[in-house]
Amino acid sequence: MDLGLSGKVAFVTGAGHGIGRAFSLTYAGEGAAVAIADINVEWAEGVADEIVQGGGRALAIACDVSDSAQVNAAVERTVGEFGQIDILVNDAVSPILTGTLEELDDEAWDDNFRINVKGGFYCIKAVAPLMKERRYGKIVNMASVVGRRGSAPPTSAAYAASKGAIIAMTASAARELGPYNVNVNAIAPGQIDTPRWRNARTPDQIEATVQSTAVKRLGQPEDLTGLAMLLSSDVSSFITGQTITADGGALCM
Ligand SMILES: NC(=O)c1ccc[n+]([C@@H]2O[C@H](COP(=O)([O-])OP(=O)(O)OC[C@H]3O[C@@H](n4cnc5c(N)ncnc54)[C@H](O)[C@@H]3O)[C@@H](O)[C@H]2O)c1
Repeated sequence: MDLGLSGKVAFVTGAGHGIGRAFSLTYAGEGAAVAIADINVEWAEGVADEIVQGGGRALAIACDVSDSAQVNAAVERTVGEFGQIDILVNDAVSPILTGTLEELDDEAWDDNFRINVKGGFYCIKAVAPLMKERRYGKIVNMASVVGRRGSAPPTSAAYAASKGAIIAMTASAARELGPYNVNVNAIAPGQIDTPRWRNARTPDQIEATVQSTAVKRLGQPEDLTGLAMLLSSDVSSFITGQTITADGGALCM
């Protein structure tokens, strides 16, 4: 099925690594131009180079999503280079945080919310006027299953709470932007085998996670790309305000 992404422009945060990288490569493979926005500019450049060498269009941008000025500048640069933004993916996430609620300090809690929630807010705020003006847009926020069911260490409550906030922000943005033909949805992955995820766990915890899924395996970033492309396309234009779980059946166990 042709998803009609050729000629579209995607702005992906946290695009230098893990799931954001996989999404960016897939958008490019579908013929979209991609702005690779990441706080780690070397990673962003690596992904952009890979796309350009494969014949695609990409732009690496150093951007800390928790700084609204940097977000606005990155959006402006993308529009300057590619003319528009059709798709926003809020994927950037704070460095991994572990520990119980009692062990969490104020600073760690605030950092989590500053990057995960405020970062997404700044990006939506920056692209919304452009999308409203063109009466076209797709926004995909990265939530998590722990945003729905809570978490226990090694995943911190601050991370789970930030992902819960993203789910609420997704539904709210969908209500505000729906009249302008802008769809806003979220993906709630289960356990996806990125270095970030694996490095925070022992071999026993990894095996327990595998057994907790219906499919008896960890997810890979590529397990989420089909859903992201669907939510970025007009095939799903009647779907908005939703948070769609992709967890290998863990929640139904
Ligand atoms: N891996 C999982 O199991 C899993 C599960 C559920 C949800 N998710 C969500 O999916 C998304 C991607 O996760 P991942 O495992 O690929 O993460 P990752 O750590 O591999 O990649 C995150 C990227 O975000 C970038 N980043 C960090 N802070 C930033 C900032 N302030 N501004 C801009 N970029 C910044 C990093 O440099 C990195 O490239 C996150 O939103 C995460 O919460 C992941």
